Amino acid sequence: MTLNQKNIGFALTGSFCTYDKVFLQIEKLVEEKANVVPIFSNFSQMTDTRFGKAKDFFDRAKSITGKDPVTTIVEAERIGPNHMLDLVIIAPCTGNSLAKLANGITDSPVLMAAKSHLRNEKPVVVAVSTNDSLGANLKNIGLLMNAKNLYFVPFGQDNYKMKPKSMVANFELIIPTLEAALDGKQLQPVILAPH
Ligand SMILES: Cc1cc2nc3c(=O)[nH]c(=O)nc-3n(C[C@H](O)[C@H](O)[C@H](O)COP(=O)(O)O)c2cc1C
Repeated sequence: MTLNQKNIGFALTGSFCTYDKVFLQIEKLVEEKANVVPIFSNFSQMTDTRFGKAKDFFDRAKSITGKDPVTTIVEAERIGPNHMLDLVIIAPCTGNSLAKLANGITDSPVLMAAKSHLRNEKPVVVAVSTNDSLGANLKNIGLLMNAKNLYFVPFGQDNYKMKPKSMVANFELIIPTLEAALDGKQLQPVILAPH
């Protein structure tokens, strides 16, 4: 399904090293004429790191999409009741947010957005980026893979020699993953060769 005029919640969590790649994809979504609403986790909206300042990322998301980012649980809660979105993508999705999503915890705007949207039985897409994908979080990836209306941006081991339990999504596959998810399908292969 085309993304033209689709309302996409684009939720960012604190895997800051991926932001350059992720922002490129937000730009592409806007080029595809999707209506993109940025959503920031509590940590991502307040944390400056060596990868950039939180305010700069916030301003960049606002400037690319033309929308005020969602930054509170109160704003995110309205997503479901108002049928605001066709799809929510969490990209990047930290191990922290992944574990919470799999276990029904809703203590950030990103997790509230996913929960509020899922109540309407609409798709949520996860783009993992965590060093413990094959460790503490493997069971949570399994839970989400087996969950209704949950889809993954295909992912693989990004550095199996130095970080043997790390897996990261191929962010360049975000658009085809979203198109497939809107048709109720998981883009395959979902597990990629090491990259
Ligand atoms: C510089 C920096 C980079 C980080 N990169 C990652 C990462 O790639 N993946 C991850 O799961 N957590 C990463 N973290 C840890 C998360 O930011 C942390 O678990 C945080 O609580 C996530 O909150 P959130 O999921 O609500 O955004 C990083 C933290 C810092 C300070």
